[in-house]
Amino acid sequence: MKDEAAIPRTGRFLTFEGGEGAGKSTQITRLKARLNEAGIEALLTREPGGSPGAETIRRMLLGGRVKPLGPEMEAVMFAAARADHVDTTIRPALEAGRWVLCDRFSDSTRVYQGEAGVDTGFLDRLETLAVAGYRPDMTVLIDVPPATGLARVAARSATAGAPVPDRFETDGETVHARRRELFLELAHNQPGRFLIVDGTARADEVEEAIWSAVRTRFANDLDARG
Ligand code: TYD
Repeated sequence: MKDEAAIPRTGRFLTFEGGEGAGKSTQITRLKARLNEAGIEALLTREPGGSPGAETIRRMLLGGRVKPLGPEMEAVMFAAARADHVDTTIRPALEAGRWVLCDRFSDSTRVYQGEAGVDTGFLDRLETLAVAGYRPDMTVLIDVPPATGLARVAARSATAGAPVPDRFETDGETVHARRRELFLELAHNQPGRFLIVDGTARADEVEEAIWSAVRTRFANDLDARG
C-alpha cells in the first residue's frame, strides 16, 4: 500500500455520483467546459472503465457475466477495474497537473455493492487497495427520486439505437430507493467532500449550482489561472 501523505498532488480530483438517470454525464461534460473556459484542462473519465483493462472488466460486469458469482465477487471486479483505472489514467493525469472528472468512483461500490449486502469491512479493504490514496477532493452527488431517474432511463432506452439497460438498471424500484438513501447517508457523513445537488431542477440550474460550488471550493486554484 502506498503512503497517502507522500503522494504529490497537483491536479484536482472530482467525482460525480448518483442513481440511474440522475444526469451525471450531462453535468460532468458541462463542468469540463466551464473549467476549460477558466483555463483549466480537465480529463473526463468514468467507472467502471476509463482504461483499456478496466473497460474489459466493465463489459463483463455490465453484461451480467459476474452476477452469478455474487455481490462480493462483483465488488472485487469493480475494485480491480478501479485499481487499473487509478494506476494508468487517474494518477498520471493528476501528477501532470490536470484535473480529473470521473463519472462514478468508489462511493458507487459502497452504495451498489453495499446495498447488495457486501460487508463494510470488506469494502473498506478493497477501497484502500484500489484507490491507493487517490481519494476525491470533491464529490458531486446528483440526487433524484428513483421514479424520476428510472423514467429518464426508460425514455432514453426508447430511442432508436439506445443501449439495452445494463445489469444494474434493471433492478427494482425498492433497490433504487435504498441506493438513494445510502448515497445521501454517505454525503451527510462527509459534508466536507460532498456537494448534494437537486437533480430534478433544470439542467442549467444544476450546472450553475455545481459551478458555483466548485468556484468557491477551489478559489485558489482558479484564481491562480487568472
Ligand atoms: P453506466 O452505464 O456507467 O451507468 P450510469 O450512467 O448509471 O453511471 O453503468 C455503471 C453501472 O455500474 C451503474 O448501474 C452503477 C454500477 N456500479 C456499481 O454497481 N459499482 C461500482 O463500483 C460502479 C463504479 C458502478
